[in-house]
Amino acid sequence: MVRETQVSLSCFIYPLFLVDGVNQKIPITSMPGIYRWSLDLMLKEIEECVALGIHSFVLFPAVEDSLKDQLGTYSYSSKNFYLSAIREVKKRFPEVTLMSDVALDPYSSDGHDGVVRAGEIVNDETLPILAKMALAQAEAGIDIVGPSDMMDGRVGVIREALDDNGFTGTSIMSYTAKYASAFYGPFREALDSAPKSGDKKTYQMDPANKIEALREATLDIEEGADIIMVKPALAYLDVIALLKQNYDVPISAYNVSGEFAMLKAAAQNGWLDYNRAMPEMILSMRRAGADIILSYFAKEYAQLKKERIIE
Ligand code: PBG
Repeated sequence: MVRETQVSLSCFIYPLFLVDGVNQKIPITSMPGIYRWSLDLMLKEIEECVALGIHSFVLFPAVEDSLKDQLGTYSYSSKNFYLSAIREVKKRFPEVTLMSDVALDPYSSDGHDGVVRAGEIVNDETLPILAKMALAQAEAGIDIVGPSDMMDGRVGVIREALDDNGFTGTSIMSYTAKYASAFYGPFREALDSAPKSGDKKTYQMDPANKIEALREATLDIEEGADIIMVKPALAYLDVIALLKQNYDVPISAYNVSGEFAMLKAAAQNGWLDYNRAMPEMILSMRRAGADIILSYFAKEYAQLKKERIIE
């Protein structure tokens, strides 16, 4: 009765990794229990999650090297398996909320979120590609586009492209305060999307900065973001709290792959009690002010709730 913070299953978005093909369920070594799915098996996974009470998903494609190029053109190609998967999931489960990833890295031969020219990531040349990618996803039926690229001005060009083409109802969840973090390591293994050279520090935020998150949020909201995200979550709970106190849009937190991996590793060694530590982590994000949590723990959280191990 006197608990200040509640966690409902409707807070969660469960990330799923998609590969082309059939009957594929490929484990990701550094993320025990998380797989790269082909569409047929992913549909079953979604069905299980829906039965447990998880209704929102974010999809990430793992793209073959031969389909990658410098400008990420496969991202909006009519042959793109990711776009067909969005169509199929929405057809089979019209009631689920589906979110996409908008960034060049899964499609880029350079492994960067933007176009690379002479070793530099060029912001403005990347923007029209991101707009095309978001539009292709909207045409496929996505509910929320999720620009994770951190290029300046991308929310504005994406909003304009969506509106101009009649997708006024497609929402934007912007990766607003996305830090140049070591905690994305397992994700890059999952998608084989690590940068081929350099790092992401010219476009992702310096972990030392907090005031800059306010500037990023103001810009994203002005440009049309419906939901703003802080990523990673655990090492940035102060940033979540800061944005919650300063803006009246919903705040999401991305509980990233490295945060998942470190708890799983400790639990596998018997060094931490998973069933207690995991819900405690989730609670901390909600307590800090996150309305929405993107988490690889989502399905297991729902299972623990069903088994009444947690309230
Ligand atoms: C890239 C992207 C990343 C994640 C989501 N989108 C990695 C990166 O910026 O290198 C990380 C998610 C995670 O670690 O769980 N567009």
